[in-house]
Amino acid sequence: MNKQIENLFDRHFGGFGRLYASPGRVNLIGEHTDYNLGFVLPGAIDKAIYMAIRPGAGSLCRIYSADYDEAVEFDLHAIQNPEQQWARYIFGVVQEMQKRGAVLGGFDAVFGGDVPLGAGLSSSAALESVAAFALNDLFEAGFDRRALAEIGQMTEHHYVGVRCGIMDQFASLFGEREKVIQLDCRSLEYRLVPFRPVGYRVLLLDTQVKHSLASSEYNVRREQCEEGVAVVARHESGVVSLRDVTLEMLSAYKQDMSEVVYRRCHFVVSENQRVLDACDALERGDYADFGQQMFASHRGLSGEYEVSCPELDFLAEKAREFDGVLGARMMGGGFGGCTINVIEASAHDAFVREASDSYQKRFGIAPRVIDVVISDGARRLK
Ligand code: GLA
Repeated sequence: MNKQIENLFDRHFGGFGRLYASPGRVNLIGEHTDYNLGFVLPGAIDKAIYMAIRPGAGSLCRIYSADYDEAVEFDLHAIQNPEQQWARYIFGVVQEMQKRGAVLGGFDAVFGGDVPLGAGLSSSAALESVAAFALNDLFEAGFDRRALAEIGQMTEHHYVGVRCGIMDQFASLFGEREKVIQLDCRSLEYRLVPFRPVGYRVLLLDTQVKHSLASSEYNVRREQCEEGVAVVARHESGVVSLRDVTLEMLSAYKQDMSEVVYRRCHFVVSENQRVLDACDALERGDYADFGQQMFASHRGLSGEYEVSCPELDFLAEKAREFDGVLGARMMGGGFGGCTINVIEASAHDAFVREASDSYQKRFGIAPRVIDVVISDGARRLK
């Protein structure tokens, strides 16, 4: 893959640039908790966006996307967001870095990768992260990884229109081989938890239903959570996010909120606890208990938070019925994308066959099978 990107760079701009990579991510548990300042448990994966980049002339930024076979140019000081969605991720990163005082120059860049697009593996965070990491290194801007993650997140907020949390960018930048990241999204303190599931595999089944996070539902969930927080905060001092809210508080003030808002908040508060319980289980090496937390997470995402869809529910249910699958749930923003399954290696092929056949029968299309290994985060390759 990286060879291909280098060749494309040579074809488009002549010669060679530096080469960087930043991966997509999985999230084992802790969904829709990041923007509620709760806990998540993501890891970087062995699929990444690669970028070859070289300082260019003056303040002109020239970028070629291998996946879209399309080129875009903009000036460092341009105000107008590019028309192409993919270019906004890089444009936004450039703007957010400059806003924070970075002195950048123009550049030529080619990027592409093997993170499946639109499957909930955070290809967009991988692109933001590789762009931020590369520009930071190339122009010696001096940001640490945490600042780079925030730059990616703010790119989503201000240039893409999704008020996402920080999980995806954080995982892409901080990931490490054989470790998942227990991240506290309030303090941004994190702990690398060993994830060496000997005898198990992490399998993603992509429903092939394209989710559109930018579609308003994601932002609506965020607003509903804020509504719940506002109700509790009227009664309890020191409550600024759902992280500060307990199940007891929710039931005490239930009558002051709509039924929907209550359910959304109930999910988030419970999901935070599940992340902590799941981490305990991991630390004990108790993958069976860990898997149960994943199933419970799916039930909440589907029933309480209502971000699942029939295709995701179908695959999660297949997994629950299948001996050898320890845990499974929908992953990411929802409304499509993948389920994540932790499965005994020996059961992998049989489950893939069974799930694929029955899914094909029911929905007329086979799920895409994506095997992942937990791998390193953003880095320079050459
Ligand atoms: C998307 C967002 C993340 C997070 C997840 C849901 O991936 O980008 O910040 O909110 O959805 O957990």
